Amino acid sequence: MKSKASSPAKVILFGEHFVVYGVKAILCAINKRITVTAETIQENKISIKSNIGNLELEPNKEISEINSPLRPFYYLANKLIKNQNTGIQVYVESDIPLGVGLGSSSACCVAGAAAISRLFKRTSKEEILKLAIEAERTIFENTSGADCTVCTYGGIMEYDKKKGFNKIKYEPNFHLVIANSEIEHSTKSIVDSVKQFKEKNEDEFSELCKKESKLVEDVSELLKENNIIELGNKITENQEYLEVLGISNEKLRKMIQIGQSKSFGAKITGAGGGGCIFALTNESNLEQTMNEFKNKNYDCFSVKIDFKGLDTF
Ligand code: PMV
Repeated sequence: MKSKASSPAKVILFGEHFVVYGVKAILCAINKRITVTAETIQENKISIKSNIGNLELEPNKEISEINSPLRPFYYLANKLIKNQNTGIQVYVESDIPLGVGLGSSSACCVAGAAAISRLFKRTSKEEILKLAIEAERTIFENTSGADCTVCTYGGIMEYDKKKGFNKIKYEPNFHLVIANSEIEHSTKSIVDSVKQFKEKNEDEFSELCKKESKLVEDVSELLKENNIIELGNKITENQEYLEVLGISNEKLRKMIQIGQSKSFGAKITGAGGGGCIFALTNESNLEQTMNEFKNKNYDCFSVKIDFKGLDTF
């Protein structure tokens, strides 16, 4: 038996960090994908092969003993082969850069949950999402589940801590140019530094949250109208708020300046401190924006919104 699934990566368009304190964030799936193929095998083992390494273990190991980024796959395989009298082989192929805030681990969990569970039964997207979030918790205990949700359903999504997720049904037509700072970042330590900023600057932080909330409300309307110029202005404005939080640095600022010089607007996506930035473009300025980054030797690529989400074969 063989089963295959693929899931898109994601960017946070608006609201990172503020979302931790109750502000709404807007995320979208992008057309960079991870594909997972799962196969039942006769030997009693779980074998995972990927471009970041391999893992081969017998079933029923304590999950906390598995010190590997492939841990979520082991978790899923081990859970799903219970009572099935079979081993499992998993192949992972990815065109998503790893560990730079583009949701590679969530995409792994979603495609992994789909490919492995569908070896045994037809599983709904809702069930797959639930399994994927469980698997993601084996590496990020406090995940909100927002990344796995947008990877599963695709498109654009609003997320807030209290109300959860709401899929935005509009399909704006833009390209994002994503540039990678190649600085590794730890989401947890940057989230901690924002907490410290908040504790030292309660009034300023609360003012910023109000401004960010208003900005995200305005954005929902602009997405509906596909008003790319105003969306670009909001992206630039959101970046100014992130700068105040202290999550930017000289390299990211330089990259944002390059992005802003040719596109409609540019900002950090995700935790900051490193990782990626994106610039909002359409056909009129996509090539110029890409060239501007390339001429300055930055690793960049362009993406569109992925409206498909999880795909199974
Ligand atoms: O680095 P990423 O893309 O996983 O984004 C983290 C987003 C934060 O808002 C900074 C943290 C969070 O849990 O929402």
